[in-house]
Amino acid sequence: MSVLKIITIPHPTLKKIAKLVTKFNAELEQFVNDMIETMYAEDGVGLAANQVNILKRIVVVDCSDERNEPLALINPVITPLSDEIEDLEEGCLSIPEMRAGPISRYTHIRVDAQNINGEPISFEAEFFLARCIQHEVDHLEGKVYIDYLSPLKRERLIVKMKKLQKEKEMEEQDEL
Ligand code: NI
Repeated sequence: MSVLKIITIPHPTLKKIAKLVTKFNAELEQFVNDMIETMYAEDGVGLAANQVNILKRIVVVDCSDERNEPLALINPVITPLSDEIEDLEEGCLSIPEMRAGPISRYTHIRVDAQNINGEPISFEAEFFLARCIQHEVDHLEGKVYIDYLSPLKRERLIVKMKKLQKEKEMEEQDEL
């Protein structure tokens, strides 16, 4: 297994729609395992294939406290189970150092997907897990959470992110 490189905004792949997975083979399994390893290495609760520059409809999530319940969803489709919405801040590995909101998500959803063998899986998710899956499936549609913010708020966040990234780079240089 290996840790993959995560791309950050404004990388164009984050704006593109991912394609359906049709081949369920050893290569897919390897890629999914790499995505899971990358998610843990970066301390994320989820990762979509777009974020490692691959346009395939694959997401991995782990919202467990122990960080030992990885879930791989191939070709996931979400259906809201009620109109109930929750507004919370979110973060994203492709928008480093930042959190922002409020981002509205359904609190109860049904997820239909395939596992790495191509077998259909279907389950219900609520609250944090539901939010996490909605965030990741948005990536497959070329959407990031800051797209839901007002243009002004989004612009400010990007400026701040760039500033923090620059500071971090300079700190790293100092350490050399
Ligand atoms: Ni994200």
